[in-house]
Amino acid sequence: MSQVDRSHQIDHAVALLRAGELIGLPTETVYGLAADANNALAVKQIFLLKGRPADHPVIVHIADSDSLSDWAQIDTDQVWRLAEAFWPGPMTLVLPKQPEVDAGITAGQQTVAVRVPSHPVAQQVLHQFGGGVAAPSANRFGRISPTRAEHVRDEFGESIKLVLDGGGCEIGLESTILSLIEGPELLRPGSISKQQLETVLEEPVSFSNRLSQRAPGLLDRHYAPRTPAWLIAADDIAAQLVASDVTQKRVGLVQFSEIDFECTMVERLACAPAGYSQQLYAALRRLDSAGLDLIIVERPPVTPAWLAVNDRLSRATRPVV
Ligand code: TXA
Ligand code: MG
Repeated sequence: MSQVDRSHQIDHAVALLRAGELIGLPTETVYGLAADANNALAVKQIFLLKGRPADHPVIVHIADSDSLSDWAQIDTDQVWRLAEAFWPGPMTLVLPKQPEVDAGITAGQQTVAVRVPSHPVAQQVLHQFGGGVAAPSANRFGRISPTRAEHVRDEFGESIKLVLDGGGCEIGLESTILSLIEGPELLRPGSISKQQLETVLEEPVSFSNRLSQRAPGLLDRHYAPRTPAWLIAADDIAAQLVASDVTQKRVGLVQFSEIDFECTMVERLACAPAGYSQQLYAALRRLDSAGLDLIIVERPPVTPAWLAVNDRLSRATRPVV
């Protein structure tokens, strides 16, 4: 796209936001379904279109940390240290909210989640728009987050007037969410690691992996394909398929290692976490639209570097041992 076309598109996007419309906005993590955060009706539209329950708060995106105090109360200079280290970038901070922040954004809580995305298109829109932009991931509730403009179109079709095309998302998984409400707590792992946060904060960050403590059947279905998906260690895949009597079915495989296994469709992803993250959601979408009976995901290593990937996979799949 030429420079002129691009700037015309940004003008159009900003005009739509000002008019209370929703747009598809690329960020470095995933695409967002964006609305003017100061327009309660527009924010409500996000929930309607996504089918998102009203008790799920959304993230406010701002151009830079200069306007952070419009949204959040800042009672510790840890906030500025984190902002300095990781913004613009894939970190979301949960902080005490300013009284004016609409309850529709915070789901009635006294806290607000804020982030400064680094994607050049998001940066241009936010700078030109001037205010905060509320944006959850641009997928229907519980489904796979979009990492390309066409994924947003697939989710919402003509119900949104504009999807800005910013290419494939560089990170591919949603931002790291850190709460500073009761001491630093990691609420959602992402590409910025717990250890990176601890280095800047100079104190431990707590993380209770609630998912691992719950029975498999109770796992949150989230980030999930419609096709049943199983998470299986490479060595167990063949035996598990025979045991489950699915050898005659159409099976898709997401793999990152050298395993050789006959199935209907294979998505071979990078073998390191950053590349794997970038490719995962697009691969799951391709498999999900291929009319398969089952998707098998090769279980990645359980190490800190794979924490964010394992978190998303544990919600997208059913663990099979
Ligand atoms: O990477 C991202 O964060 C993407 C892009 C578009 O910025 N956005 C995103 O939004 O993943 P969403 O709505 O899919 O996920 C936001 C998460 C939800 O789990 C929500 O519960 C949490 O942020 N959240 C928002 N406000 C919060 C708050 N005040 N306290 C705790 N969690 C909050
Ligand atoms: Mg989401």
